[in-house]
Amino acid sequence: MGYILKTMKEKLKEELEKIKSEGLYRSLPDIDEGAGKYILAGGKKLLNLASNNYLGISEKEELVSESAAALRLFGCSSGASRVVTGNFSLYNSLEREMAEFKETESCLVLNTGFMANLAVIASIATRHTAVFSDKLNHASIIDGIKLSGANHIRYRHNDTAHLAELLEQYKDTKEKIIVTDSVFSMDGDRANLAEIVQLAERYGALTVVDEAHATGVLGHGRGLAHELGLEKRIDIHMGTFSKALGSFGAYIAGNSDITDYIRNKGRAFIFTTSLPPAVIGANIGALKWLKHNPDSGYNLLQKAENLRSALNKAGFDTADSSTQIIPVIIGDNFAVQQAGKLLEDAGIKVGVIRPPTVPEGTARLRLSVRLDLNDDEILHVISSVRGLKNA
Ligand SMILES: Cc1ncc(COP(=O)(O)O)c(C=O)c1O
Repeated sequence: MGYILKTMKEKLKEELEKIKSEGLYRSLPDIDEGAGKYILAGGKKLLNLASNNYLGISEKEELVSESAAALRLFGCSSGASRVVTGNFSLYNSLEREMAEFKETESCLVLNTGFMANLAVIASIATRHTAVFSDKLNHASIIDGIKLSGANHIRYRHNDTAHLAELLEQYKDTKEKIIVTDSVFSMDGDRANLAEIVQLAERYGALTVVDEAHATGVLGHGRGLAHELGLEKRIDIHMGTFSKALGSFGAYIAGNSDITDYIRNKGRAFIFTTSLPPAVIGANIGALKWLKHNPDSGYNLLQKAENLRSALNKAGFDTADSSTQIIPVIIGDNFAVQQAGKLLEDAGIKVGVIRPPTVPEGTARLRLSVRLDLNDDEILHVISSVRGLKNA
C-alpha cells in the first residue's frame, strides 16, 4: 500500500514537472475583482478583456437590487437540493420568465453550465446512443458524453459534410443526438445550425445546443437559434447566466417532457444543493435588464467587428471569429505567455489560452470584447496588440 501511494505521488510530481517544461503550467492569478471593466491584478489596474461579462452588467442596479432583496428575504443559502426544500418561489419565477423569453414550453435552472451539460447528456444518452459532437465543443459536453457511456462520435469543427458522412454511417443506430456549442468559446465562431438542424431532421437525431456564449448577445439575447429563426427546430436549448448575463448558473429550455425528464433523471441536477437566493435574484434582474436593452448584443457585436477588422488589417489571425470573442492566434505556448505579459504591461488583461483548452500549436490570446468599452479604450487595445509585432 505504502509503495503504491509513494509511486502515485511520484507520478503526480513528474507529471507536474512535465506540464511546467511544456509551458502548460496553470497558476491562479491574484485578482481583486474579476468581472469589472477595470480590475486590480497584483496591485495593477488593468482593462479587463478576459472576463465573460460581455455586456458589463454584473454591477448594474437591476441585478444588484434584485440580488440584495432575495438575500434579505431568503438568507444566504437555499438549504438543500431543489427536490427537497431548495425550491423557493424565486426559482419558479425565474424559470417562468426564462421559458417565456426563450419562447419554449418549459425551463429548468441548474447550478452551472458545466453541470447543465452533464445533467442533460448523461441522462438522455445511454450506451445505446450515438452522440455526434463538434470537435471543439466545451469540455462539459465531452465529459457528459463520457459519463453517459454513449458512443462518442466527433466530427471535424463546423464541418457539416463530415457530420453528414458520420450520420450516414450510423443511420441504423436508433438513438442519435447531435450536440454543439452555438458560439465556440475559444474561437468566437458560430455553429452552422441551419445545416445541423436539417441533418438532424433527415436522420432523426435529437439536437442539443449550448448557447453559453450566445445568451445575452445573439438573437436579442435569446441565442443563435433565435437569431437564425431555428428555435422551434432545436430540441434542447442550454445556456448560462454566468457570462453575458453577468451572474451565475444555467438553464435548459425546451418542451416540458425534456425538462421533466432532466428533473427526474439528471444527477447533476438532483444531487446538489440548489443555487443560493442572491444568485437567483441577480438572474431575474439580468433578464429584466436584457428585456429593457434588447439591442445591446448587436451594439457589442459592432464593437467587436471594429476591433477584429483593425487586428486583421494589422496582420493578426483571428480565426473564424464573428462574435464578441476574438482569438489572436500566436501558436507557441511560451510566446503566448510573453504576449499576455506585454499586454499586461500596456494595462490590458486578456485570456492566455493554451492546450489542452485549444489544440496543440494554436495557443492564443482570447479577447472578450465588452459593451462598456469606449472608443479610446478600443484604440488603446488595437495599438497595444499591434505593438506585439515589434516585441
Ligand atoms: C460553451 C460552454 N458551455 C458551458 C460552459 C460552462 O458554463 P459555467 O461556467 O456556467 O459552468 C462554458 C464555460 O466556460 C462554455 O464555454
